[in-house]
Amino acid sequence: MKQSVRFEPAGLEEPVYPGDTLLDVALAARIALEHECGGNCACTTCHVIISGGAEYLTPPEQVELDRLEEAEARCSQSRLACQAIIRLTAEEFTISAFIAGETAATAQKEC
Ligand code: FES
Repeated sequence: MKQSVRFEPAGLEEPVYPGDTLLDVALAARIALEHECGGNCACTTCHVIISGGAEYLTPPEQVELDRLEEAEARCSQSRLACQAIIRLTAEEFTISAFIAGETAATAQKEC
């Protein structure tokens, strides 16, 4: 049984646990995903672009969508990693998340 998140461009894959956000998983993988506001949906530094497995995440609430309006290089697959909670609705899945942060120009290609 494999339930994991694969982070790009690092290419690191990390298992997930109930209640994890994408930010929790990134930090467990020791990925330097910025989270300036401490996971309170008050910045956009944890911006990620989901290129696979979005159905295994809780849908964004309006407060996240409003905050994402401020994110550089956002697109329809953009999420704030601190707000996206993983749903363990299948025995096996992999969510692919591209860390937008410092590579906004590259991230736009993922959209
Ligand atoms: S850490 Fe600030 S919005 Fe996610």
